[in-house]
Amino acid sequence: MKVDVLLGLQWGDEGKGKIVDVLTPTYDIIARFQGGPNAGHTLEFEGIKHVLHTIPSGIFRENVVNLIGNGVVIDPVIFKQELEKLAVFNINIKERLIISKKAHLILPTHRLLDAASETAKGKHKIGSTLKGIGPTYMDKTGRNGLRVGDIFSPRFHEKYQALIDKHVGILSHFEDFEYDLSALEKPWMKGIEILQSLTAVDSEHFINKALLEGKKILAEGAQGTMLDIDFGTYPFVTSSNTVTAGTCTGLGVAPTKIGRVIGIFKAYCTRVGSGPFPTELNDEVGEQIRKEGHEFGSTTGRPRRCGWIDLPQLKYAIMINGVTELSMMKADVLSCFEKISVCTHYTINGERIEDFPYDVDDQNILPVYEELPGWHCDLTQLSDYNQAPDALKNYVSYLERQLDVPITVVSVGPDRQQTLRNTSH
Ligand code: GDP
Ligand code: IMO
Ligand code: MG
Repeated sequence: MKVDVLLGLQWGDEGKGKIVDVLTPTYDIIARFQGGPNAGHTLEFEGIKHVLHTIPSGIFRENVVNLIGNGVVIDPVIFKQELEKLAVFNINIKERLIISKKAHLILPTHRLLDAASETAKGKHKIGSTLKGIGPTYMDKTGRNGLRVGDIFSPRFHEKYQALIDKHVGILSHFEDFEYDLSALEKPWMKGIEILQSLTAVDSEHFINKALLEGKKILAEGAQGTMLDIDFGTYPFVTSSNTVTAGTCTGLGVAPTKIGRVIGIFKAYCTRVGSGPFPTELNDEVGEQIRKEGHEFGSTTGRPRRCGWIDLPQLKYAIMINGVTELSMMKADVLSCFEKISVCTHYTINGERIEDFPYDVDDQNILPVYEELPGWHCDLTQLSDYNQAPDALKNYVSYLERQLDVPITVVSVGPDRQQTLRNTSH
């Protein structure tokens, strides 16, 4: 057996949570491999909307184990809040959720450091979700971090205090940065108690044994390829590898054990936070996409920046991830437009550029568009792709030709059921 991977191809919020939820019945294990509570994954079914941050999106389905892998960073406070929200659904969390002992912990001071560092950057700020992601991964690679396994050690409090003291020292270098640490520590320790009561495992053994037993596993990405620490629009990125390779390091799965790679993208493009976005529309069209698509962050509520789909960017993401199939999300949002633009390439100082360039921000990069006819009708009631309007099918097959990967799923609304399978391949 192999591990299938589902991940975002743009700047996050592509609809990963929805598609993981749709696919979960065909899997035994859903595993998050990177990121942390900077993620907000939305699932909608039976009239209820759920937003998950750290917990994998398979949690609502019976007979599925959800794994938080070693590559993930966990904030015990947010984690406890997530569990409290799930309490009404009578989910046996101890059985359905397992956590890697090697996952790193976000300390209260990591959040403070994130805030202090962003403030110090002024107009150059990343637009971080301020969940402490950057400082936690810095401590991981700097070999200072605290891991879930540490919370079972008699030396836990000693290790915790040593790291807190170190952070307090660093914080003292930021001018005018005030904070009340004790108010943050109390709920954090309550969250640790919850974590101590759950199932922590050596997840690399768990997952490889599961593969040998023939179990079907889906790895759920967070963020998106353009926020990857190596391949994203650095420095306006997150601090983990969001790409397929991150599955190997974030779960302990060998590259030879990777199966299907499902890449998710919106029929247009969005980004939240700072950084380059070549096809961004700072006009009424961008405003209309935001309004129709309810493009406001699931984690922070910030308005998302909106623009047309960007083929050089998508081709780049497909290359890096080895995508084998695509899901196109939010087709219904474009129903209001008579014409839809697709960026086919860029020009920089008059020169045609096909590849996503190194430093998008510093260059006079102009997206070049091709216009396609819009479908201009309601898609949200469709249940069969064959019944989709020709203009939508034309858009899908145009993208397939350009990207050279089949689009097997077209999503036409936030609900689980508003998902069309394109079986024409
Ligand atoms: P994720 O982070 O990739 O899981 O995506 P988010 O949950 O942050 O953002 C996607 C948003 O779009 C959520 O509010 C979803 O409910 C919503 N959504 C997902 N698919 C569709 C779709 O096909 N159409 C519409 N209109 N909304 C969708
Ligand atoms: P999901 O999984 C969209 C963005 C932030 C910021 C940058 C760095 O829901 O798709 P960080 O908090 O990691 O320091 O922020 O990355 N960002 C996301 N944007 N979706 C996400 O996750 C994101 N997680 C982080 O807005 O620009
Ligand atoms: Mg999201």
